[in-house]
Amino acid sequence: MKKLLIANWKMHYGPIKAGAWIRAFRRERLPKELDIAVAVPFVSLAAARSSLGRASIPALAAQDVFWNEEGAFTGEISPGMLLEFGTEYCIVGHSERRQYLGETDEMVSKKAAAAQRSGISPVICVGETKIQRARGEASKTVRSQITAAVSQSKSEGKAPLVIAYEPLWAIGSGKSCSPQDTKEMHTIIRSVLEKKLGKAASAVRILYGGSVDVRNVAEYMTTTGVDGALIGGASLDPRNFGLLCRAALPA
Ligand code: 13P
Repeated sequence: MKKLLIANWKMHYGPIKAGAWIRAFRRERLPKELDIAVAVPFVSLAAARSSLGRASIPALAAQDVFWNEEGAFTGEISPGMLLEFGTEYCIVGHSERRQYLGETDEMVSKKAAAAQRSGISPVICVGETKIQRARGEASKTVRSQITAAVSQSKSEGKAPLVIAYEPLWAIGSGKSCSPQDTKEMHTIIRSVLEKKLGKAASAVRILYGGSVDVRNVAEYMTTTGVDGALIGGASLDPRNFGLLCRAALPA
């Protein structure tokens, strides 16, 4: 299974800057052994697609999706709409959405299942808060988030699930999770997936996210159980992200 790096711009870059980012990133030399995607705001999908042309690297990802295909759901975006831009991945349940927009495990599981039904790989985000970790509840928290999130997912299919373990205290803080703790959490996640999905769990990639940068990416990529990374701040500059992709798999 190829390792996967996903840039998550969060709420940065409308269509004009998105197009420029893609054009600049296309000039970067990228390792062939990596899958690379970029999660852009909905309004920038069209510009990103048009700057990509027929190129498939980076793959396009959305940052959210709704669970119904159409109807009276003002402001929402369906999986079918995302497919019109050739979107291959879709982040669901990012901690910022859980925190600021009240997304629940139930909503996350509906979104993940809807994306998967349409052939879009959901990138399900899970992770504990600083307090939960301090209380020794990191494993319990993540187990219950994963169990809920995959409860409506089909185990087989053309769009395998992706899980992103993003401890909240590591996001945007410069304090990344130690390789030892990361390995432990990824092992727990893998075992929950095996229990819930059986054989199909082997197609699921488990990414780490939280203060990944050019300096530490290689260490994560060689940590047991880490199948890639979800990168926020360090993906905003296309050249820096190109550097990070090369650092991830040194020749
Ligand atoms: P940072 O890489 O900025 O810590 O963000 C991580 C993240 O939330 C990616 O989804």
